[in-house]
Amino acid sequence: MEKKRPWWQRPGIVITIALVLLILLGGAAGGIYFTQIPPEQPIQFPHNFHVGVGAQCAYCHTGAATGPTAGLPSPEKCWGCHQQVQKQSPELDKLAAFVKAGDSIPWVPVAIQPDHVHFNHRPHVAAGVTCETCHGDVAQMTVAEPQSGQNMGWCLDCHKKMAPEKWVRLSDCATCHY
Ligand code: HEC
Ligand code: HEC
Ligand code: HEC
Ligand code: HEC
Ligand code: HEC
Repeated sequence: MEKKRPWWQRPGIVITIALVLLILLGGAAGGIYFTQIPPEQPIQFPHNFHVGVGAQCAYCHTGAATGPTAGLPSPEKCWGCHQQVQKQSPELDKLAAFVKAGDSIPWVPVAIQPDHVHFNHRPHVAAGVTCETCHGDVAQMTVAEPQSGQNMGWCLDCHKKMAPEKWVRLSDCATCHY
């Protein structure tokens, strides 16, 4: 009599397991891919053009070096420059409409942590951590693209690389949560 194979070695089961694995892996890859697609923004703002003509990150995100939040430029700041340079295009017409109405531009946040997390740009920028380390190569992007996997483990993995006397504070729950 032929020796009975354990259930998990039967051809039908092997194929099923392979298929399930493929679907799971494919789904995970799809998930990573999808989280990087930027949300629909009110204006398709091209970071690449602006960084390309020499505008520094800190010129528009003025708070990053000095405070908790980096901040976004006002429509007036955009317009001040666009009256000197290019004024018209479908996207710039949208900008002009916001300026004329005196409305702020409802940008959709892409780099955002839950309310219970306390993040502060200043100590990071002061320690020489570059914007790109956390936000990706924004200089090559149009609108900012969300970065996946920026959870508590991500913060702690980097903090763990600091000197041991710093790690005590940098791993303290109260440093990042109040
Ligand atoms: C320091 C000057 C400056 C500031 C400030 C500035 N821009 Fe620009 N912007 C430029 C220049 C120069 C170009 C053209 C680059 C090129 O065509 O190579 C440009 C291009 C653009 C374009 C692409 C134009 C097209 O063909 O559709 C858009 C959209 C735009 N800017 C929107 C904005 C918005 C929105 C802001 C504010 C958040 C802003 N800009 C702030 C200088 C500026
Ligand atoms: C150590 C990682 C890190 C570095 C370095 C960093 N950021 Fe951030 N940034 C974050 C995190 C995390 C958030 C989300 C904060 C929140 O939701 O409380 C954020 C949010 C932002 C935002 C949107 C919210 C806000 O603060 O206005 C902008 C704009 C921004 N960063 C720009 C920059 C620029 C420009 C630089 C470089 C000068 C920079 N960041 C450096 C991690 C970083
Ligand atoms: C001319 C102004 C300008 C410059 C220069 C600029 N940005 Fe931005 N940035 C914006 C605007 C407008 C937005 C909102 C639209 C979007 O999400 O892309 C933004 C959004 C962002 C966001 C997402 C903010 C959020 O609310 O989640 C990050 C992160 C960011 N920029 C990083 C950078 C970095 C890094 C640089 C330098 C390499 C840079 N920016 C240069 C205008 C600018
Ligand atoms: C790529 C590295 C890196 C990442 C990622 C990172 N940090 Fe930091 N963090 C640092 C450095 C460097 C310092 C400054 C340490 C020093 O010199 O005291 C710091 C300091 C801080 C401080 C100030 C601590 C104090 O002394 O009061 C807070 C708060 C903080 N980080 C929160 C976060 C949070 C929240 C995240 C994730 C959302 C995060 N960090 C991600 C490198 C990082
Ligand atoms: C360096 C910063 C940092 C430190 C230190 C830290 N956390 Fe967090 N924590 C975060 C961030 C960022 C998130 C939210 C991101 C995520 O994981 O979804 C978070 C999320 C959480 C959550 C919610 C998880 C969820 O599913 O929403 C809990 C609970 C938590 N932390 C507990 C703690 C405890 C307890 C400690 C101390 C042992 C601690 N944290 C230390 C950064 C930190």
